[in-house]
Amino acid sequence: MKRIIVVGAGVAGLTAAIKASDNAVVDLISPDYSERSQSVMAMGGINASLNTKGQNDSSEQHFIDTMRGGCEINDVDAVFKLTNDAPKIVEWLSKIGTNFTRDSYGNIDLRYFGGQKKQRTAYAGARTGKQIVTALVNQCRKYEDYGNIIRHVGWRFLSLIFTDNNECVGVVCVNEDDGEIKSFVGDAVIIASGGLNSLFGKTVGSTQNDGYVTAKLLTQGVQLSNLEMIQYHPTTVLTPNKRMLITEAARGEGGKLYVMRDNTKYYFMQEWYPEMAELMPRDVVSRSIYKASSGGEKEVYLDITHLDKDTIKVKLDEVYDVCTQYLNLNPIVEPIPVFPGVHYFMGGIKTDANHKTNIRGLYAAGECSSQYHGANRLGGNSLLGAIHGGWIAAENALLENPSGKIIQKETTLPTQNDVRLAEIMSRSMGLYRDDENLNKGLDELSNMKETPIIILAKACILSALERKESRGAHQRIDYPKTVLEFEKTSNVLYDGEINIFFE
Ligand code: FUM
Repeated sequence: MKRIIVVGAGVAGLTAAIKASDNAVVDLISPDYSERSQSVMAMGGINASLNTKGQNDSSEQHFIDTMRGGCEINDVDAVFKLTNDAPKIVEWLSKIGTNFTRDSYGNIDLRYFGGQKKQRTAYAGARTGKQIVTALVNQCRKYEDYGNIIRHVGWRFLSLIFTDNNECVGVVCVNEDDGEIKSFVGDAVIIASGGLNSLFGKTVGSTQNDGYVTAKLLTQGVQLSNLEMIQYHPTTVLTPNKRMLITEAARGEGGKLYVMRDNTKYYFMQEWYPEMAELMPRDVVSRSIYKASSGGEKEVYLDITHLDKDTIKVKLDEVYDVCTQYLNLNPIVEPIPVFPGVHYFMGGIKTDANHKTNIRGLYAAGECSSQYHGANRLGGNSLLGAIHGGWIAAENALLENPSGKIIQKETTLPTQNDVRLAEIMSRSMGLYRDDENLNKGLDELSNMKETPIIILAKACILSALERKESRGAHQRIDYPKTVLEFEKTSNVLYDGEINIFFE
């Protein structure tokens, strides 16, 4: 029987484990339980052209919207597969017990989400991630019972294991409780370790996703791409320990953004983008909030007070809870003060449409990987990309047949992140960038101890410096135009030096 190693137990890792375990024994390794993964924080929904509302939707239209949202630097083959498989994925999720919200005909209900003119986002209230994780965990437990999935909770990734043929066949991990170091070896490895949140400190993401896995992989020869593409979600709120999301679904259900001007409410999205207004792609909405607030000087409000109470309490339940529990604010009667915050990393481990990396035997899926979202991800495509990615990675990983001998394993423990890192990254890699601030950030990083995380942070800044244009989430004050020459992916390889190239 084959043996597959999966690192990360959010929706990408769970799906990979479930799909691989039909034909393999899977080691599913994670620092924490799936129920505490970043995936449970996904609120708004999952996109699929189910076309149940007579809205004349199709996977072709989903493909076009995704490419357009990503400013055409997404991997075309990968997006084609993703959008084509989306209805099958949502149907599978429903079949294994995801409690999607349904319309009065019993069909999976669909809501509007940003960057898409069709109702295409299936959802479970505003707790879609939680519902999907619950269904996947239940499914996973069945395979655990058969012995095909072995869970290893409390283990943190340290490094990849290679053969003398440069095939990846395993990982070295450390047990967080007692410090035991252990190797997990198999036929292939699937990395599903999430985004790079700790580079930026207070993001809407999980602090578990500290970027160490991606950073270590870079130093071990794994190619990364589009690291400059960091999504600022337009509507986040600051709570004592982190930023929290006010789901895009609030705007999908009719929520409006305004700023006070001369004692009247100025609905700037309605004025500036009358056709799609609050449902413009996220990069546009985030920049508009920044502009309307005069760079953060004035408060911008998300107003859902005109929606009926049931819509808020049922379809936007998590928004209601976040506001009442963390902000002491009742969104049924009061507007919510919002500001953009770091939400998602479009860039990461470069994979092809089969989720293969540049290293044989090594696959990546979910937010740690980079192929579907280009310069800007559409809301509702992250759960889809993660589940699709886990599924495709598993199918391909099962075909691996490594032949080399294992070479020496490395066991260096990660060091604590320097507290200055988040401040440097937030300042130089904000909504707007320029040569001066990017170079300043790079200089500051160069004066810090060179850990894998610092090398990764430098690679992000260098990618931003080299992309001398503005595209999607990457906006350069000094290069405001989108340039055809840069309609390409930025790539990073490390060989003691950070090498950036476009292809
Ligand atoms: O706003 C949201 O609910 C986020 C969804 C997503 O990023 O896919």
